[in-house]
Amino acid sequence: MIDNYTLGMIGLGTMGRNLLLNMADHGFRVTGYDKDPKMLKKLAEDGAEHNLKGFEDLNDFIKSLELPRRIMLLVPAGAIVDSVISELVPLLDKGDMIIDSGNSHFTDTSRRAKELSDQGIHFFGMGISGGEEGARFGPSMMPGGDKEAYLSVKPILEAVSAKVNGDPCVAYIGPGASGHFVKMVHNGIEYAMMQILAETYDLLKNGLKYNNEQIYNLFDKWNNGRLKSFLLEVTKDIFKVKDEKTGGLLIDFIKDEAKSKGTGKWTTQVSVDLQLPIPTINESVSARDLSKFKSLRVNLAAALPHQAIAIEDAAAFEVKLEQALYFAMITAYAQGLHLLEQASVEFKYELNLKEISQIWRGGCIIRAELLEDIFQAYTKQPKLPHLFSDPGIQTQLKDIIGGTRQVIVSAIQSGIAIPCYASALTYYDSLRTANSPLNLTQAQRDFFGAHTFERIDEEGIFHANWNTNN
Ligand code: 6PG
Repeated sequence: MIDNYTLGMIGLGTMGRNLLLNMADHGFRVTGYDKDPKMLKKLAEDGAEHNLKGFEDLNDFIKSLELPRRIMLLVPAGAIVDSVISELVPLLDKGDMIIDSGNSHFTDTSRRAKELSDQGIHFFGMGISGGEEGARFGPSMMPGGDKEAYLSVKPILEAVSAKVNGDPCVAYIGPGASGHFVKMVHNGIEYAMMQILAETYDLLKNGLKYNNEQIYNLFDKWNNGRLKSFLLEVTKDIFKVKDEKTGGLLIDFIKDEAKSKGTGKWTTQVSVDLQLPIPTINESVSARDLSKFKSLRVNLAAALPHQAIAIEDAAAFEVKLEQALYFAMITAYAQGLHLLEQASVEFKYELNLKEISQIWRGGCIIRAELLEDIFQAYTKQPKLPHLFSDPGIQTQLKDIIGGTRQVIVSAIQSGIAIPCYASALTYYDSLRTANSPLNLTQAQRDFFGAHTFERIDEEGIFHANWNTNN
């Protein structure tokens, strides 16, 4: 059977199917493969307009693809990717390419690239963001690895991606596992933004005693200003959705224990390994993990009650909270981008932060108005040491820092947990501290362990005799 399909998708779940439909909409000859006949049926139904059909037999699927074959995987990250690859490889020819588009761990991607290149198969890892809607109508995509393979699918990816001012939200990220690394950090930023919004909800609900309608209205107002973003947009809409069972709002019936699939945790783990702090992202990972101790929280809430101080003057607080929210969002991006900068050096990814912020402006979960400013900052200064170093961002920080501090003081007095807000402010204060107290840490280390120290007035490595009283 020779059908000469340009690209074949393995894994016809929602993401794979939607991306395939998106490719078909753009006139590409594509097909799919899935072991599950229900998935094939769904593809045939949804793709009827394009006569889009899939295969249940892997051999037939492989034979239907033009050479060199372009095969995209959209299967759950982890062992399944390895098992699909091992089934595929004996059926492929040298020069064929496999694109793993799931949320794979970047170390798995590095290993797979090496193993496959030894067998003459091109491989690259590509992060896709935007959820179901994005896949169907325009995601942001982060491909990294084998450049030759990327170039061969570039026209398809550019056509199906989201566009901002006509620019596609896809660009070659760099060598190795850089595509999956950048997507992982994207998700770390996503975790932080989501937790910042959750803390904002807590401040409004339990600090200002706002009801869901008031929260909707305020989020709606903010989403028409500089805070405009995909995540604020969907968060706002949550405060309108009715619960069919009770007639109340669904949000009030959802258990407060957050799950996760791992990308946030991986971001935190890498940041510790690279010694590049991203405390606000870390706090968002911890907040999800702490949420799981529900019965402990319920018990401690009863045992250690706090007499909350009500937040007064709601109108003034709203203004400051908008500033604090904007501040925390800037900080979340700043930390993620700083981690990318360091990873680029460490792993030789050759990352271009201007291009990364450009392709994050549309299609992905962390798309926001603010990314335009970030893109401009890296356009003006591609080697910007930190987002806080940009003069435009500094002007904004100076403007919002006072309100931010007041919000955080109020939250602390009220006993409302704000791990991301508090860590964002402390991160900012740490970075703008010219003379930190860590001279004391060095003195302590030298005192009890003779670990030596440097001086501010003389080059060299020193050790002192600290036991002056003995
Ligand atoms: C995206 C999302 C997507 C997914 C996360 C969810 O960019 O489209 O990040 O990849 O929603 O993997 O992650 P958690 O289940 O860990 O929240």
